[in-house]
Amino acid sequence: MLSAPSPNEVATHLLAEKGLSLQSLKVIQSLWAGYGQICHITATPDGLLDAKDTQSYILKLITPPPTRANDEGHTRKILSYQVEQYFYSHLAPQLPSSVPVAKCLGSVNEHHANGTSTTAMVLSDLRQQYPIAGEKRNVLSSAQVNAALDWLSGFHGFWWPRINDLDKSLLVLPPLEEVQRDGHDASEKTIWLNGGYTYLATRRTEYTSLAEDSESEWSSALTSRSGSDTQSIAEMAAAFLTPAIPGSTPIDHYQTLIHGDVKSENLFSSKFGDQLVFYDFQYTGLGLGVCDLAKLFTCSVPLSMLVTQKSIPHILPMQVGEKWLLERYWRGLKNTGERDYSWDIFLFHWEIALVDWLRFQASWGFWGNTEWLEARVRHILSDAEWRKALKRAVNGHI
Ligand SMILES: Nc1ncnc2c1ncn2[C@@H]1O[C@H](COP(=O)(O)OP(=O)(O)O)[C@@H](O)[C@H]1O
Ligand SMILES: [Mg+2]
Repeated sequence: MLSAPSPNEVATHLLAEKGLSLQSLKVIQSLWAGYGQICHITATPDGLLDAKDTQSYILKLITPPPTRANDEGHTRKILSYQVEQYFYSHLAPQLPSSVPVAKCLGSVNEHHANGTSTTAMVLSDLRQQYPIAGEKRNVLSSAQVNAALDWLSGFHGFWWPRINDLDKSLLVLPPLEEVQRDGHDASEKTIWLNGGYTYLATRRTEYTSLAEDSESEWSSALTSRSGSDTQSIAEMAAAFLTPAIPGSTPIDHYQTLIHGDVKSENLFSSKFGDQLVFYDFQYTGLGLGVCDLAKLFTCSVPLSMLVTQKSIPHILPMQVGEKWLLERYWRGLKNTGERDYSWDIFLFHWEIALVDWLRFQASWGFWGNTEWLEARVRHILSDAEWRKALKRAVNGHI
Protein backbone atom coordinates (compact mmCIF):
# COMPACT_ATOMS: atom_id res chain seq x y z
CA MET A 1 0.00 0.00 0.00
CA LEU A 2 1.22 3.53 -0.78
CA SER A 3 2.22 5.81 2.09
CA ALA A 4 -0.95 7.93 1.87
CA PRO A 5 -3.65 5.65 0.48
CA SER A 6 -7.07 7.01 -0.42
CA PRO A 7 -10.21 5.93 1.47
CA ASN A 8 -11.26 4.05 -1.68
CA GLU A 9 -8.06 2.01 -1.79
CA VAL A 10 -8.19 1.17 1.90
CA ALA A 11 -11.88 0.24 1.84
CA THR A 12 -11.45 -1.93 -1.25
CA HIS A 13 -8.49 -3.72 0.31
CA LEU A 14 -10.16 -4.38 3.67
CA LEU A 15 -13.45 -5.50 2.12
CA ALA A 16 -11.69 -7.86 -0.33
CA GLU A 17 -10.21 -9.78 2.61
CA LYS A 18 -13.79 -10.60 3.63
CA GLY A 19 -15.02 -11.45 0.11
CA LEU A 20 -16.84 -8.14 -0.25
CA SER A 21 -16.80 -5.55 -3.05
CA LEU A 22 -17.05 -1.81 -2.49
CA GLN A 23 -20.21 -0.31 -4.00
CA SER A 24 -20.16 3.28 -2.70
CA LEU A 25 -18.10 5.51 -0.46
CA LYS A 26 -19.00 8.89 0.99
CA VAL A 27 -16.83 10.94 3.32
CA ILE A 28 -19.05 12.00 6.24
CA GLN A 29 -16.54 13.70 8.51
CA SER A 30 -12.92 14.73 8.85
CA LEU A 31 -11.13 13.65 12.00
CA TRP A 32 -9.47 15.97 14.51
CA ALA A 33 -6.85 18.29 12.94
CA GLY A 34 -7.32 16.64 9.54
CA TYR A 35 -5.77 13.38 10.75
CA GLY A 36 -8.15 11.26 8.69
CA GLN A 37 -11.69 10.67 7.57
CA ILE A 38 -14.85 8.87 8.52
CA CYS A 39 -16.63 7.41 5.51
CA HIS A 40 -19.90 5.65 5.00
CA ILE A 41 -19.40 2.71 2.68
CA THR A 42 -21.68 0.12 1.15
CA ALA A 43 -20.54 -3.28 -0.04
CA THR A 44 -21.90 -6.49 -1.51
CA PRO A 45 -20.57 -10.04 -1.37
CA ASP A 46 -18.26 -10.66 -4.39
CA GLY A 47 -20.23 -11.44 -7.51
CA LEU A 48 -23.57 -10.24 -6.14
CA LEU A 49 -24.94 -6.89 -7.20
CA ASP A 50 -28.46 -7.14 -5.90
CA ALA A 51 -29.51 -4.22 -3.68
CA LYS A 52 -30.86 -6.63 -1.07
CA ASP A 53 -27.33 -7.95 -0.48
CA THR A 54 -25.90 -4.48 0.17
CA GLN A 55 -24.40 -3.93 3.60
CA SER A 56 -23.58 -0.64 5.25
CA TYR A 57 -20.29 0.06 7.08
CA ILE A 58 -18.22 2.89 8.50
CA LEU A 59 -14.57 3.32 7.51
CA LYS A 60 -12.43 5.14 10.08
CA LEU A 61 -9.20 6.02 8.27
CA ILE A 62 -6.33 7.72 10.07
CA THR A 63 -3.37 9.09 8.07
CA PRO A 64 -1.63 11.53 10.43
CA PRO A 65 1.54 13.56 9.93
CA PRO A 66 4.72 12.14 11.57
CA THR A 67 5.05 12.34 15.37
CA ARG A 68 6.92 15.36 16.66
CA ALA A 69 9.05 14.94 19.76
CA ASN A 70 7.46 16.38 22.91
CA ASP A 71 4.17 17.25 21.23
CA GLU A 72 1.90 15.79 23.87
CA GLY A 73 -1.45 16.44 22.17
CA HIS A 74 -0.32 14.97 18.86
CA THR A 75 1.25 11.94 20.54
CA ARG A 76 -1.89 11.37 22.62
CA LYS A 77 -4.02 11.36 19.45
CA ILE A 78 -1.76 9.03 17.49
CA LEU A 79 -1.62 6.54 20.35
CA SER A 80 -5.38 6.82 20.83
CA TYR A 81 -6.11 5.45 17.36
CA GLN A 82 -3.92 2.42 18.04
CA VAL A 83 -5.70 1.91 21.35
CA GLU A 84 -9.07 2.04 19.63
CA GLN A 85 -7.97 -0.44 17.01
CA TYR A 86 -6.74 -2.84 19.68
CA PHE A 87 -10.03 -2.45 21.53
CA TYR A 88 -12.15 -3.25 18.46
CA SER A 89 -10.06 -6.16 17.27
CA HIS A 90 -9.23 -7.87 20.59
CA LEU A 91 -11.57 -6.74 23.36
CA ALA A 92 -14.90 -5.80 21.75
CA PRO A 93 -15.51 -9.35 20.43
CA GLN A 94 -15.48 -10.62 24.02
CA LEU A 95 -18.35 -8.38 25.16
CA PRO A 96 -21.77 -9.97 25.68
CA SER A 97 -24.72 -8.82 23.54
CA SER A 98 -26.09 -6.96 26.59
CA VAL A 99 -23.23 -4.46 26.09
CA PRO A 100 -23.50 -3.65 22.38
CA VAL A 101 -20.59 -2.11 20.44
CA ALA A 102 -19.78 -1.86 16.73
CA LYS A 103 -18.24 -4.96 15.16
CA CYS A 104 -14.93 -4.58 13.39
CA LEU A 105 -14.96 -6.28 9.99
CA GLY A 106 -11.27 -5.69 9.34
CA SER A 107 -8.43 -3.33 10.18
CA VAL A 108 -4.95 -2.29 9.13
CA ASN A 109 -2.12 -0.57 10.99
CA GLU A 110 0.97 0.26 8.93
CA HIS A 111 3.95 2.39 9.86
CA HIS A 112 5.90 3.87 6.97
CA ALA A 113 9.61 4.65 6.78
CA ASN A 114 8.98 8.42 6.53
CA GLY A 115 7.30 8.46 9.96
CA THR A 116 3.72 8.55 8.69
CA SER A 117 1.24 5.76 9.30
CA THR A 118 -2.06 4.37 8.11
CA THR A 119 -4.56 3.05 10.58
CA ALA A 120 -8.00 2.00 9.39
CA MET A 121 -11.00 0.05 10.59
CA VAL A 122 -14.18 -1.04 8.89
CA LEU A 123 -16.94 -1.02 11.50
CA SER A 124 -20.57 -2.10 11.40
CA ASP A 125 -22.85 0.90 10.86
CA LEU A 126 -24.54 1.44 14.22
CA ARG A 127 -27.12 3.84 12.84
CA GLN A 128 -29.05 0.99 11.32
CA GLN A 129 -30.11 -0.33 14.71
CA TYR A 130 -29.60 2.88 16.71
CA PRO A 131 -30.79 5.74 14.49
CA ILE A 132 -30.68 8.59 17.03
CA ALA A 133 -27.33 10.37 17.41
CA GLY A 134 -26.71 11.72 20.93
CA GLU A 135 -26.76 15.42 20.22
CA LYS A 136 -24.08 17.82 21.26
CA ARG A 137 -24.37 19.42 24.68
CA ASN A 138 -26.74 18.72 27.45
CA VAL A 139 -29.73 17.18 25.77
CA LEU A 140 -29.87 13.49 26.62
CA SER A 141 -33.38 12.40 27.52
CA SER A 142 -33.93 10.65 30.84
CA ALA A 143 -34.41 7.36 28.96
CA GLN A 144 -31.03 7.88 27.28
CA VAL A 145 -29.36 8.73 30.60
CA ASN A 146 -30.68 5.54 32.19
CA ALA A 147 -29.65 3.48 29.16
CA ALA A 148 -26.19 5.09 29.27
CA LEU A 149 -25.83 4.16 32.95
CA ASP A 150 -26.89 0.58 32.20
CA TRP A 151 -24.47 0.31 29.28
CA LEU A 152 -21.66 1.66 31.49
CA SER A 153 -22.41 -0.62 34.45
CA GLY A 154 -22.53 -3.55 32.01
CA PHE A 155 -19.23 -2.54 30.39
CA HIS A 156 -17.39 -1.77 33.64
CA GLY A 157 -18.91 -4.78 35.37
CA PHE A 158 -17.91 -7.16 32.58
CA TRP A 159 -14.25 -6.15 32.65
CA TRP A 160 -13.95 -5.80 36.42
CA PRO A 161 -13.20 -9.49 37.17
CA ARG A 162 -11.25 -9.86 33.89
CA ILE A 163 -8.89 -6.93 34.22
CA ASN A 164 -6.03 -8.99 35.64
CA ASP A 165 -5.93 -11.12 32.48
CA LEU A 166 -4.49 -8.16 30.55
CA ASP A 167 -0.73 -8.19 30.04
CA LYS A 168 0.20 -5.14 32.11
CA SER A 169 3.56 -4.69 30.35
CA LEU A 170 1.78 -3.90 27.06
CA LEU A 171 -0.45 -1.15 28.39
CA VAL A 172 0.15 2.28 26.88
CA LEU A 173 1.74 4.78 29.30
CA PRO A 174 0.86 8.50 29.45
CA PRO A 175 1.84 9.93 26.02
CA LEU A 176 5.17 11.59 26.86
CA GLU A 177 6.33 8.51 28.81
CA GLU A 178 5.18 6.10 26.12
CA VAL A 179 7.28 7.77 23.40
CA GLN A 180 10.36 7.52 25.62
CA ARG A 181 9.90 3.79 26.05
CA ASP A 182 12.37 1.76 23.99
CA GLY A 183 11.72 -1.50 22.25
CA HIS A 184 7.94 -1.22 22.10
CA ASP A 185 6.72 -1.34 18.56
CA ALA A 186 3.23 -0.21 17.64
CA SER A 187 1.91 -3.71 17.12
CA GLU A 188 2.54 -4.50 20.79
CA LYS A 189 0.48 -1.69 22.21
CA THR A 190 -2.86 -2.53 23.76
CA ILE A 191 -5.00 -0.06 25.72
CA TRP A 192 -4.10 2.86 27.99
CA LEU A 193 -2.72 2.10 31.42
CA ASN A 194 -4.80 5.08 32.54
CA GLY A 195 -8.07 5.42 30.66
CA GLY A 196 -9.31 8.89 29.63
CA TYR A 197 -7.38 11.90 28.40
CA THR A 198 -7.75 14.26 31.33
CA TYR A 199 -5.81 12.57 34.13
CA LEU A 200 -3.13 14.70 35.78
CA ALA A 201 -0.06 12.90 34.37
CA THR A 202 -1.08 14.02 30.87
CA ARG A 203 -2.32 17.49 31.94
CA ARG A 204 0.70 18.81 33.80
CA THR A 205 1.02 21.91 31.60
CA GLU A 206 -2.61 22.85 32.26
CA TYR A 207 -2.13 22.14 35.97
CA THR A 208 0.85 24.49 36.16
CA SER A 209 -1.22 27.24 34.53
CA LEU A 210 -4.00 26.68 37.05
CA ALA A 211 -1.51 26.86 39.91
CA GLU A 212 -0.32 30.23 38.57
CA ASP A 213 -3.81 31.60 37.92
CA SER A 214 -4.51 33.89 40.87
CA GLU A 215 -7.97 34.77 39.47
CA SER A 216 -9.35 31.25 39.81
CA GLU A 217 -11.01 30.10 43.03
CA TRP A 218 -9.74 26.62 42.17
CA SER A 219 -6.11 27.60 41.92
CA SER A 220 -5.42 27.54 45.63
CA ALA A 221 -8.29 25.17 46.53
CA LEU A 222 -6.87 22.44 44.31
CA THR A 223 -3.18 23.14 43.77
CA SER A 224 -1.80 24.60 47.01
CA ARG A 225 -0.12 22.34 49.55
CA SER A 226 -1.20 22.91 53.10
CA GLY A 227 0.97 22.53 56.19
CA SER A 228 3.46 19.72 55.89
CA ASP A 229 1.61 18.06 52.97
CA THR A 230 3.80 17.08 50.05
CA GLN A 231 0.86 17.02 47.67
CA SER A 232 -2.07 19.32 46.86
CA ILE A 233 -5.64 18.00 47.01
CA ALA A 234 -5.65 17.65 43.21
CA GLU A 235 -2.39 15.69 43.31
CA MET A 236 -3.76 13.42 46.03
CA ALA A 237 -6.97 12.79 44.07
CA ALA A 238 -4.91 11.98 40.98
CA ALA A 239 -2.55 9.73 42.93
CA PHE A 240 -5.55 7.88 44.33
CA LEU A 241 -7.11 7.33 40.90
CA THR A 242 -3.94 6.33 39.03
CA PRO A 243 -3.75 2.66 38.06
CA ALA A 244 -0.27 1.19 38.56
CA ILE A 245 1.82 -1.57 37.01
CA PRO A 246 2.39 -3.70 38.95
CA GLY A 247 0.38 -2.21 41.67
CA SER A 248 -0.82 -2.24 45.12
CA THR A 249 -2.92 0.92 45.02
CA PRO A 250 -6.09 1.93 46.87
CA ILE A 251 -8.12 1.14 43.75
CA ASP A 252 -6.63 -2.29 42.95
CA HIS A 253 -9.84 -4.13 43.87
CA TYR A 254 -12.12 -1.75 42.05
CA GLN A 255 -10.38 -0.74 38.85
CA THR A 256 -11.78 -1.94 35.58
CA LEU A 257 -11.77 -0.95 31.93
CA ILE A 258 -13.29 2.49 31.37
CA HIS A 259 -14.53 3.94 28.09
CA GLY A 260 -12.57 7.15 28.65
CA ASP A 261 -14.67 9.62 26.62
CA VAL A 262 -18.26 9.20 27.72
CA LYS A 263 -20.45 11.97 26.32
CA SER A 264 -23.56 12.43 24.24
CA GLU A 265 -21.51 12.91 21.03
CA ASN A 266 -20.14 9.38 21.33
CA LEU A 267 -23.39 7.43 21.46
CA PHE A 268 -26.36 6.40 19.34
CA SER A 269 -29.70 5.28 20.70
CA SER A 270 -32.94 3.68 19.60
CA LYS A 271 -35.88 5.93 18.78
CA PHE A 272 -37.19 5.96 22.34
CA GLY A 273 -33.76 6.17 23.91
CA ASP A 274 -34.03 2.94 25.87
CA GLN A 275 -31.43 1.04 23.80
CA LEU A 276 -28.05 2.67 23.49
CA VAL A 277 -24.57 2.05 22.21
CA PHE A 278 -21.28 3.89 22.76
CA TYR A 279 -18.48 4.18 20.22
CA ASP A 280 -15.15 6.09 20.06
CA PHE A 281 -12.88 3.89 22.20
CA GLN A 282 -9.73 5.99 21.70
CA TYR A 283 -9.24 6.58 25.41
CA THR A 284 -10.15 3.17 26.77
CA GLY A 285 -7.94 1.96 29.57
CA LEU A 286 -7.81 1.09 33.23
CA GLY A 287 -9.54 3.21 35.83
CA LEU A 288 -12.46 3.51 38.19
CA GLY A 289 -15.89 3.38 36.55
CA VAL A 290 -16.87 6.57 38.40
CA CYS A 291 -14.36 8.50 36.27
CA ASP A 292 -16.58 7.82 33.23
CA LEU A 293 -19.59 8.95 35.29
CA ALA A 294 -17.97 12.25 36.34
CA LYS A 295 -17.74 13.33 32.71
CA LEU A 296 -21.21 12.01 31.83
CA PHE A 297 -22.89 13.80 34.75
CA THR A 298 -21.09 17.08 34.07
CA CYS A 299 -21.37 17.15 30.30
CA SER A 300 -24.40 15.15 29.20
CA VAL A 301 -26.93 14.61 32.01
CA PRO A 302 -29.67 17.28 32.11
CA LEU A 303 -29.25 19.44 35.20
CA SER A 304 -32.86 18.74 36.18
CA MET A 305 -31.92 15.09 36.77
CA LEU A 306 -29.27 16.12 39.30
CA VAL A 307 -30.96 18.92 41.26
CA THR A 308 -34.49 20.21 41.80
CA GLN A 309 -33.53 23.72 42.99
CA LYS A 310 -34.04 26.56 40.54
CA SER A 311 -30.83 28.18 41.68
CA ILE A 312 -27.93 26.07 42.85
CA PRO A 313 -26.51 26.98 46.26
CA HIS A 314 -22.81 27.83 46.50
CA ILE A 315 -22.13 24.61 48.41
CA LEU A 316 -24.20 21.57 47.48
CA PRO A 317 -24.47 18.15 49.15
CA MET A 318 -25.57 15.21 47.00
CA GLN A 319 -29.21 15.59 46.01
CA VAL A 320 -31.72 12.82 45.54
CA GLY A 321 -31.57 12.90 41.71
CA GLU A 322 -27.81 12.40 41.67
CA LYS A 323 -28.17 9.63 44.26
CA TRP A 324 -30.77 7.74 42.22
CA LEU A 325 -28.61 7.78 39.14
CA LEU A 326 -25.58 6.62 41.12
CA GLU A 327 -27.58 3.84 42.79
CA ARG A 328 -28.83 2.55 39.46
CA TYR A 329 -25.27 2.38 38.15
CA TRP A 330 -23.87 0.91 41.39
CA ARG A 331 -26.46 -1.90 41.54
CA GLY A 332 -25.86 -2.74 37.87
CA LEU A 333 -22.09 -2.73 38.36
CA LYS A 334 -22.16 -5.12 41.34
CA ASN A 335 -24.61 -7.35 39.52
CA THR A 336 -22.57 -7.72 36.35
CA GLY A 337 -19.20 -7.74 38.11
CA GLU A 338 -20.48 -10.23 40.71
CA ARG A 339 -18.34 -8.46 43.28
CA ASP A 340 -19.01 -6.41 46.33
CA TYR A 341 -18.54 -2.65 46.39
CA SER A 342 -19.76 -1.00 49.58
CA TRP A 343 -21.86 2.11 49.02
CA ASP A 344 -19.56 4.17 51.26
CA ILE A 345 -16.44 3.21 49.34
CA PHE A 346 -18.25 3.76 46.06
CA LEU A 347 -19.34 7.24 47.15
CA PHE A 348 -15.82 8.10 48.28
CA HIS A 349 -14.54 7.07 44.84
CA TRP A 350 -17.27 9.13 43.18
CA GLU A 351 -16.33 12.23 45.15
CA ILE A 352 -12.64 11.83 44.29
CA ALA A 353 -13.57 11.43 40.62
CA LEU A 354 -15.57 14.69 40.79
CA VAL A 355 -12.61 16.53 42.31
CA ASP A 356 -10.32 15.15 39.61
CA TRP A 357 -12.72 16.06 36.82
CA LEU A 358 -13.07 19.59 38.20
CA ARG A 359 -9.27 19.88 38.30
CA PHE A 360 -9.23 19.16 34.56
CA GLN A 361 -12.02 21.56 33.68
CA ALA A 362 -10.67 24.34 35.91
CA SER A 363 -7.31 24.04 34.15
CA TRP A 364 -8.61 23.55 30.60
CA GLY A 365 -11.95 25.32 30.43
CA PHE A 366 -15.42 24.62 31.80
CA TRP A 367 -18.41 23.27 29.91
CA GLY A 368 -21.59 21.46 30.92
CA ASN A 369 -23.13 21.55 34.40
CA THR A 370 -20.38 23.80 35.75
CA GLU A 371 -22.32 25.36 38.64
CA TRP A 372 -23.42 21.94 39.86
CA LEU A 373 -19.89 20.52 39.64
CA GLU A 374 -18.30 23.46 41.44
CA ALA A 375 -20.93 23.47 44.21
CA ARG A 376 -20.57 19.71 44.69
CA VAL A 377 -16.78 19.93 44.94
CA ARG A 378 -16.97 22.87 47.38
CA HIS A 379 -19.11 20.65 49.58
CA ILE A 380 -16.74 17.69 49.29
CA LEU A 381 -13.63 19.75 50.05
CA SER A 382 -15.26 21.54 52.99
CA ASP A 383 -15.22 18.26 54.95
CA ALA A 384 -11.95 18.07 56.92
CA GLU A 385 -12.53 14.35 57.63
CA TRP A 386 -12.88 13.66 53.91
CA ARG A 387 -9.58 15.36 53.22
CA LYS A 388 -7.89 13.33 55.94
CA ALA A 389 -9.37 10.10 54.57
CA LEU A 390 -8.02 10.92 51.10
CA LYS A 391 -4.57 11.62 52.50
CA ARG A 392 -4.57 8.38 54.50
CA ALA A 393 -5.71 6.38 51.47
CA VAL A 394 -3.00 7.87 49.25
CA ASN A 395 -0.38 7.10 51.87
CA GLY A 396 -1.48 3.49 51.96
CA HIS A 397 -3.44 3.45 55.19
CA ILE A 398 -7.01 2.86 54.13
N1 LIG B 1 -19.74 2.34 14.05
C1 LIG B 1 -20.26 3.50 13.65
N2 LIG B 1 -21.48 3.54 13.07
C2 LIG B 1 -22.02 4.71 12.64
N3 LIG B 1 -21.39 5.89 12.72
C3 LIG B 1 -20.18 5.93 13.28
C4 LIG B 1 -19.54 4.74 13.79
N4 LIG B 1 -18.34 5.09 14.29
C5 LIG B 1 -18.22 6.42 14.11
N5 LIG B 1 -19.31 6.94 13.50
C6 LIG B 1 -19.56 8.35 13.10
O1 LIG B 1 -18.31 9.02 12.95
C7 LIG B 1 -18.20 10.14 13.84
C8 LIG B 1 -16.80 10.26 14.41
O2 LIG B 1 -16.39 9.05 15.05
P1 LIG B 1 -15.54 8.99 16.38
O3 LIG B 1 -15.11 7.57 16.52
O4 LIG B 1 -16.32 9.56 17.51
O5 LIG B 1 -14.27 9.87 16.06
P2 LIG B 1 -13.82 11.34 16.56
O6 LIG B 1 -14.53 11.66 17.84
O7 LIG B 1 -12.35 11.21 16.74
O8 LIG B 1 -14.20 12.27 15.45
C9 LIG B 1 -19.24 9.87 14.90
O9 LIG B 1 -19.70 11.05 15.47
C10 LIG B 1 -20.32 9.12 14.16
O10 LIG B 1 -21.20 10.01 13.55
MG1 LIG C 1 -16.08 11.01 18.97
